[in-house]
Amino acid sequence: MVHSALLNVMVKAARKAARGLIRDFGEVEKLQVSMKGPANFVSAADKRSEETLKTELLTARPGYSFVGEEGGKIVGTDQSHTWIVDPLDGTTNFLHGIPQFAISIGLEREGTLIAGLVLNPVTDELFLAERGKGAFLNDTRIRVAARKNMGEAVLACGLPHYGRGDLELFRREFSVIQEKVAGLRRFGAAALDLAYIAAGRFDIYWERNLSPWDLAAGTLIVREAGGYVTDLDDKDDMFVKGHVAAGNPVLHGELLKILKEASKG
Ligand code: IPD
Ligand code: CA
Ligand code: CA
Repeated sequence: MVHSALLNVMVKAARKAARGLIRDFGEVEKLQVSMKGPANFVSAADKRSEETLKTELLTARPGYSFVGEEGGKIVGTDQSHTWIVDPLDGTTNFLHGIPQFAISIGLEREGTLIAGLVLNPVTDELFLAERGKGAFLNDTRIRVAARKNMGEAVLACGLPHYGRGDLELFRREFSVIQEKVAGLRRFGAAALDLAYIAAGRFDIYWERNLSPWDLAAGTLIVREAGGYVTDLDDKDDMFVKGHVAAGNPVLHGELLKILKEASKG
C-alpha cells in the first residue's frame, strides 16, 4: 500500500525503534531468571526507544514539537504540530517477557489529531490512521465491531495501579459490568487496547488515569475505524481528564450509561 509522506515518516521511525525493542526484549526474556531482574534494563530500553523516535521524527519534520513519556516536552519552532509518543506502551508486559506491548505515535495539528500509529514489534501488527482516510492494520482496512448486544461483547479495561486511582469506584463499575458482558480482558497496553477496538477484536474499552501518549494514536485509529472515543462524560477531554471510553456508537453509549449508574454507588 502507498502511504502518504507523513505516514512514511512515522512508519520508518517506528520500525527503527521496534528493532531496538525486539533486541532488548530478547535480553529481558533471559534476565527473568536472574536475581537482579530486568527492571533497570527495561527502563534503559524505554529511553533508547524514545531517543530513536525523537531523532527520526524531528529530523524528518524539523521544528515540530514533541511530547514523549520519557523525555518530557520539546517546544519546537512550529508549535502547531506536536508528536505525542509513547516509546514503550505496556512496560510491565515487556518487563515480564509478555509480548503485548507497542510503540505509539500520534500527531496533533492545532489540537486536532491528524495521524496515528501503533506497532506491536513482536507480532509485527501495524495499526495506522490518517484523519479522513480510514484506519488500517497491515494495509487492510479495519472497522470497529458491529455487535450491538452488550451480552455478546468482549470488553477491555484498565485496573487502578496500587496507590493510584479510585479502587472502590473501579470495583463498583467492574461488578456491574461483569454481569452484562461476554468477556472481560486486561491486557496492559492501552494503545493496543484501542487498536484492538479499531480492528473489531474488542467491542468496548474503558480506563481511567491515562496520559495523552497512551491515547493519542489509538484515539484517531478508532475514530477512523468508525468508532467513538470520549472521556467518561461523553466529551472530548480525554487528554485532560485521563479517562477514556471507546467502542462502536451503540455500545459506547451503553457503557457510559452503565458507568454513570455504577459511579452513583
Ligand atoms: C501503561 C499501559 C497500561 C495502562 C497504564 C499505562 P506504560 O502504559 O498502557 O495498559 O493500564 O495505566 O500507564 O506505563 O506501560 O507506558
Ligand atoms: Ca503507556
Ligand atoms: Ca510507556
